[in-house]
Amino acid sequence: MPDDPMTDEPMADEPMPDEPRPVSHVPVLADEVVAMLAPVAGSQHVDATLGGGGHAERILEASDPDGRLLGLDADEAAIARVRSRLAPRFGARLRLRQANFRELATVAPEEGFADIDGCLFDLGLSSFQLADEARGFGIRTGGPLDMRFDTSRGLPAAELLASLDADELTALLRRYGEEPFAGRIARAIVQARRTAPIRTAEELATLIARVAPSRAPGRRRIHPATRTFQALRIAVNEELEALQTGLAAAVDLLRPGGRLVVLSYHSLEDRIVKRFLQAERRGCICPPEAPVCVCGRQPRLRLLTPKGLVATPAEITANPRARSARLRAAERLAA
Ligand SMILES: C[S@@+](CC[C@H](N)C(=O)[O-])C[C@H]1O[C@@H](n2cnc3c(N)ncnc32)[C@H](O)[C@@H]1O
Repeated sequence: MPDDPMTDEPMADEPMPDEPRPVSHVPVLADEVVAMLAPVAGSQHVDATLGGGGHAERILEASDPDGRLLGLDADEAAIARVRSRLAPRFGARLRLRQANFRELATVAPEEGFADIDGCLFDLGLSSFQLADEARGFGIRTGGPLDMRFDTSRGLPAAELLASLDADELTALLRRYGEEPFAGRIARAIVQARRTAPIRTAEELATLIARVAPSRAPGRRRIHPATRTFQALRIAVNEELEALQTGLAAAVDLLRPGGRLVVLSYHSLEDRIVKRFLQAERRGCICPPEAPVCVCGRQPRLRLLTPKGLVATPAEITANPRARSARLRAAERLAA
């Protein structure tokens, strides 16, 4: 099968300089997500990234009258928002829990979701988080540089920026932001913090705009701080590590015929999802030079979207956040 193109948009969920600040979160590829998860009456689903609850609401509607859904989010504000919006309508059919999806293997069975029909991951951050001036996620929104999904754990982005040396910062910006001007930006950060710590999103964005051009060779025009913001957010939340663990846990929870659906927004995420699904489709993880299989692993997934799905131009016009979304879905095979 030919390799499909990776999503090449950086920080799709960051606002572009000419975009207004979002005030609500419109679920991306919602019809396609529901079609792939195929909820029916009585089914049990996990939404591992509840956000504003848009996808969760659609899944509950499609599994009327008694389908159940467990919604997780690392952000307690997301849980509180969805509880007040959807709990009155769906009652006991909706369970909510503040948790990182890297804990899915224990959290889901604890909540009575040990054998499920589907699991959704809609990665990254929500429009609510982006618009929150206390969190520092957005270049345009500004605010103190925190960037944690769960503000009760881990180091805020400002502390990470203050503690890494120039080489470590360069490596972080390359690894998680694929930033072509990583060294230049890292040196500027280290230089600037000798005078005063970098505490806010505005300070960081202004500093980067002074040293990095807004268009890297061959890439489209974005705010020059876009990749740095992406890199910091990924590092602060250990997003890529959580994704690996969460995906593996989700497959373990799926019953035969159950569906896994993942929406990713940049190439780092999509690469992990794609490789994970391919490995589970193949089963065997022996090196190609091994004459016979010694790992004994069997295929566990059938791919439903070999090349992934993307949003239509009409959806992108209505919801710019859909611009670089890629949906990948797979079905659990019988053991
Ligand atoms: C793109 S939004 C989800 C939007 C949602 N599908 C909707 O329709 O409103 C992603 C959400 O996932 C949460 N999140 C990101 N990584 C997480 C993780 N490792 N564990 C739990 N929640 C996570 C974020 O806090 C955010 O609220």
